[in-house]
Formats: sequence, C-alpha cells, structure tokens
Amino acid sequence: MRKASFCNSPKENKLLDFLCAKIEATGPISVADYMKEVLTVPQSGYYMSRDVFGSSGDFITSPEVSQVFGELIGIWFYNEWCKIGFPQPLQLVEFGPGRGTLTDDILRVFSKLTSKHKSNLNLSVHFIEVSPHLCHIQMSKLCSEHVKEELHGKTLTTKYGFPITWHPHLVNVPEAFSLFLAHEFFDAMPIHKFQKTSDGWREILIDCKEGELQFILSRNPTAATKFLIDKNEKRDHVEISPTSGILLDEITKRMKEDGGITLIADYGHLGTKTDTFRSFKKHQLHNPLKNAGEADLTADVDFQFLSKHAKEKAVVVGPVNQASFLKNMGIEIRIQELMQRATKENQESLKTGYDMLTNSNQMGERYKFLALFPLVLKEFLCKFPPSGF
Ligand SMILES: C[S@@+](CC[C@H](N)C(=O)[O-])C[C@H]1O[C@@H](n2cnc3c(N)ncnc32)[C@H](O)[C@@H]1O
Repeated sequence: MRKASFCNSPKENKLLDFLCAKIEATGPISVADYMKEVLTVPQSGYYMSRDVFGSSGDFITSPEVSQVFGELIGIWFYNEWCKIGFPQPLQLVEFGPGRGTLTDDILRVFSKLTSKHKSNLNLSVHFIEVSPHLCHIQMSKLCSEHVKEELHGKTLTTKYGFPITWHPHLVNVPEAFSLFLAHEFFDAMPIHKFQKTSDGWREILIDCKEGELQFILSRNPTAATKFLIDKNEKRDHVEISPTSGILLDEITKRMKEDGGITLIADYGHLGTKTDTFRSFKKHQLHNPLKNAGEADLTADVDFQFLSKHAKEKAVVVGPVNQASFLKNMGIEIRIQELMQRATKENQESLKTGYDMLTNSNQMGERYKFLALFPLVLKEFLCKFPPSGF
C-alpha cells in the first residue's frame, strides 16, 4: 500500500498504487515483472488503451516514417517465399503490429505481385496483439468492415480480400506455413537486469519507498541470477530477456514442424551494451520509474543472445544493420521511382524518410535485421542466399 505522503499527489496513478501494494505484499520485483505490468496489464498498461505512435504519441517507428520500408519487407518475404516454391496455405503472422501500417504495405505488395493468380493465393493474416485498443486501430487501417466488439479470436476481411484474425498469443495461431514478422516487438519484451559486485552477480530489483519506486540490488543472487547469466560473461552489467528466448523457441518449433520464414527487426546490439533500459514520453527520454503506464519502457535487443539462442534450431542469417538491408533491397531505386510522380511536398517527405531510415546517425545503424529459416533449408540457402543480407 502507498504511504499517505504520496496519496496527496495531485495526479492519481492506479498502476503505481497496484505496484507498491504488490511490492509491500511480496517484496521487491524484478525489472522484467515491472516491464510486463507497466506495458501490458489490462486497463492501465501503457499499450492497452492509447495510440502511442507518431508526432502526437511518444515515438515513431520505421513503417510510420515511409511506405517504402514495408514495401521492401513485403518484397523480401515474397521473394524468399517464391524461392522455396510458394508453399500454401500461407500465413502472415505479425507480432505487435502497432497501427497495422507495416502489414498494410506488405499486403499491397503481395496483392500487386500476385494479381494474376490472386484467386489461387491462400493467404491469411494473423496479428498477435496484446492491446484491445490497438487491435481496433489495426482494424480501421486494414478492413472496410468496422466492429465495436473485442477482436481477439475474431476474423474479418482486409481491404485486399485476405482474412485477418487477432490473437493474444502465438499459441492461438493455426499451424501452417508462416511468414513471421517482429518489428520493434522484442524491445518491449521484459528484461532482467544484473550487476556484478565484489560479492558476485546480483539482480537489480524495484522497490517502493514512501510511494516512490526505486532501483535496489538484491541482497543475494536471485533464481534469475543463477540461471540466466553466462559463466563467460565479461560485462559488469547485463540485461537478459528469457521471454524473448521462449518466444524464439516457439517460432523455431513452428518453422520446423509447419515451415516458415522469420524476420526480426529492432534496435539493438551484438552482446556489447550494458545498461539500455529506458523510457520515452512525448519523444523525450523519461525516468523509467516515473509515471508508470504513461510512458514507454524499452531495452535494446541483444541480437547476439537471439542468434545464439536460435542457432541450434534454425538457420540464422544476419544481423545486418537497417541501412544495409534497405539498400540491398533497392530502397534507392524505389525512392527515385516515387519521386518522379510525387508533388514537391511529397518529394521532401520522401527524402526526409529515406534519410531517417538509412542515415547512420538516425535509424540506419542502430536498427538491425535478423532472419531465421528452417534447418532443412541450410544447403539450399548456401546456394541461394537470402537477399538483403
Ligand atoms: C513498439 S510497438 C511496435 C509497433 C509496430 N510493430 C511498429 O513498428 O510500428 C510494440 C507493439 O507490440 C505490442 N505488444 C507489446 N507487448 C506485447 C505482448 N506481450 N504481446 C503482444 N503484443 C505486444 C504493442 O501493443 C505494440 O503494438
């Protein structure tokens, strides 16, 4: 329960009350527990009831910067799928689709490229989305039919004619050959944080003192400290996301059993960074322990962890940085083509978008692309390597 001093605070924060009560009852919580609660707890979780994207939100993502981003991902998937004989039925499974913009751009590409034999294309879209509010924004973007009811478990038809179903988890998605896509999804997966001390590794936990949240070090090694830290770890501070490992296990199992191709794109590092846990509000860095549920929480994705975790279970390709991937996929040609038919104003926004996506001081270097294929394709991929990488 929160102390009286904080109860006098002018603005109520029910989520903070809940977190403090939980900590009072069971002791300090891990950063992973905190992230999970703050981002996705029903009603007051950050993603649950607001549109967080764009200039009026807290951050902007690549698909919202330029249509070309999603188009090139669409071409990438189409090309890799054709190379292996266009298996059907085909599912496009997107994790955390935000406003639905990326899938919109991908479906436009698939519709164009398959227009001659579209009636034979057995494609369905599956969105894995925790936020009921964002599910409705996605529906508005992709479907002409608009319903008010809860969308999890519901199937509608997209404006491209393909069915779309919303799911809370991957486990609800039918088993079939799938194109799995996760753009800026893994950075929202809960992380545990650890600090090396003169007594060995300790976990960084979150405590509540007089109604305010604060970081503390665990007195002893926690279960997470014992199980998650690599014995060869050289850094003195690490962030590890076991949830990301579990999700990769589920994806690679599906790719093995039903076939599939996975593309993961996010900001991240190759096992070199230390303290990246942070918060954003209105495009500014924010104290991650303040305004729980009203600001984004995120951590850089450790691509070395993802690659190591998946390598026995899938062919891992990459990671490469975003600028390389987009340039290898022909972003310059596509931008030039669009420029020719654009108004002066649109030409400016195409140029700005290109710069934002590819400039190494913006999204070009920090964002990385990683692809996963079923192990049976290992020799095939040596002969015919995936494009973009
Ligand atoms: C940073 S946004 C990225 C949105 C979109 N992919 C883009 O790039 O514009 C994260 C997305 O993942 C969703 N999300 C976060 N945690 C989730 C979870 N545990 N399960 C399902 N969706 C989740 C959010 O609601 C949101 O749609």
